[in-house]
Amino acid sequence: MFVGMRGLRMIMWTILLVLAILHRASSHGIQPLSRIAIHKATLALDNLAYVKASPTVLGLNGQNTEWITVEYSSPNPSMDDWIGVFSPANFSASTCPAENPRVYPPLLCSAPIKFQYANYTSPDYKVNGKGSLKLQLINQRSDFSFALFSNGFLNPKLVAVSNTVSFANPNVPVYPRLAQGKQWDEMAVTWTSGYGIDEAEPFVQWGPKGGHQQHSPAVTLTFERSSVCGAPARTIGWRDPGYIHTSFLKELWPNRVYSLRLLMFLKSLISDTYLDIGIEIWYTYKLGHRLFNSTYVWSQEYQFRASPFPGQNSLQRVVIFGDMGKDEADGSNEYNNFQRGSLNTTKQLIKDLKNIDIVFHIGDICYANGYISQWDQFTAQIEPIASAVPYMLARLATSMLCLSL
Ligand SMILES: *[C@@H]1O[C@H](CO)[C@@H](O)[C@H](O)[C@H]1NC(C)=O
Ligand SMILES: *[C@@H]1O[C@H](CO)[C@@H](O)[C@H](O)[C@H]1NC(C)=O
Ligand SMILES: *[C@@H]1O[C@H](CO)[C@@H](O)[C@H](O)[C@H]1NC(C)=O
Ligand SMILES: *[C@@H]1O[C@H](CO)[C@@H](O)[C@H](O)[C@H]1NC(C)=O
Repeated sequence: MFVGMRGLRMIMWTILLVLAILHRASSHGIQPLSRIAIHKATLALDNLAYVKASPTVLGLNGQNTEWITVEYSSPNPSMDDWIGVFSPANFSASTCPAENPRVYPPLLCSAPIKFQYANYTSPDYKVNGKGSLKLQLINQRSDFSFALFSNGFLNPKLVAVSNTVSFANPNVPVYPRLAQGKQWDEMAVTWTSGYGIDEAEPFVQWGPKGGHQQHSPAVTLTFERSSVCGAPARTIGWRDPGYIHTSFLKELWPNRVYSLRLLMFLKSLISDTYLDIGIEIWYTYKLGHRLFNSTYVWSQEYQFRASPFPGQNSLQRVVIFGDMGKDEADGSNEYNNFQRGSLNTTKQLIKDLKNIDIVFHIGDICYANGYISQWDQFTAQIEPIASAVPYMLARLATSMLCLSL
């Protein structure tokens, strides 16, 4: 939706009101990972079954998203066999805390980060017990493994576990998101990495495109299992969120539209003509971490335009939406079909990016509902948008509930 600044306020309130009514009905029980009772899983390892994933090292050319192939086989295939993707790759019982000494800890206590039926692209799996899947992985600061389960989602039996797969550097700074700062000439950049402040110093290298690039320091935040308030975020949905860094880029030069009086060659015989020339000032930036042995780790380069002067006569194209959700490009985790549309929304916004100055995503963000792995997947999904224009997030009621973390 494209609106001028004037209509923005009213439309935003109207949308907020409508969404506040609608989202109540739609936001519960929609996290596909909650269908899997991983804490009830039992071991049924079978030497004749296998799962193999390749390639084993990802991101060798600096990319943070890659497709992999998983091949598997089981001597006792059945329709409800499924493949779970785990990260960290070691999802064994030894990482399960016993909440209460009278209750035995479960054998498995980390939910997969995604899953798919074994027959998804192998319709003959049920007959010959062989199948393969193509899955998309993103750099989420840890390695991955793939497990074959039988007996469905509610009482799963672990049949086989794959080799591990990992990104060449799992800690690299990723998924920058911009936000308009408190001052008109300030832009905040937030990103995720695997580097704590005891390992490296986070900063942004930025400046006018092609001009002098300066360094601005960043603050680092994270949270722990004990600081989230209940299951599943504290139990099977827990996953180390890594480090979240924010830097404030200040004293940006405004984007201006100069109104020049030009005597145009051909038209000059008829009349003087005014011509508006937009002078777009682009800034480039890179996320950096300076390790204590003076090695630098860099992200790729991104760019954005600063906002105009306050009061300046300019066209600002604003996109406002809510309740987007997230989805997997490889088709995994299918549950509620409406999540699928979130990829379409994202793709459309990326296509239109040239015509967008700012995005307001007014809450109900990714329906992680306590499965923390989903937040990285959401920030990866919106990265092409959020790294280029201010992506302003607001919260509605469900985002404030603990379970929606
Ligand atoms: C794969 O298995 C699921 C779950 O049992 C079933 O719903 C689906 O129809 C199967 N698909 C194919 C292609 O056999
Ligand atoms: C998994 O982690 C546990 C505890 O951290 C360790 O004891 C075990 O050896 C690990 N397993 C593998 C296969 O690395
Ligand atoms: C600095 O430390 C990093 C991480 O430990 C390592 O990969 C890198 O090779 C080191 N660089 C130098 C110059 O020692
Ligand atoms: C999303 O796009 C695909 C193809 O581009 C289309 O088949 C599908 O119907 C779209 N889904 C929604 C929910 O609009």
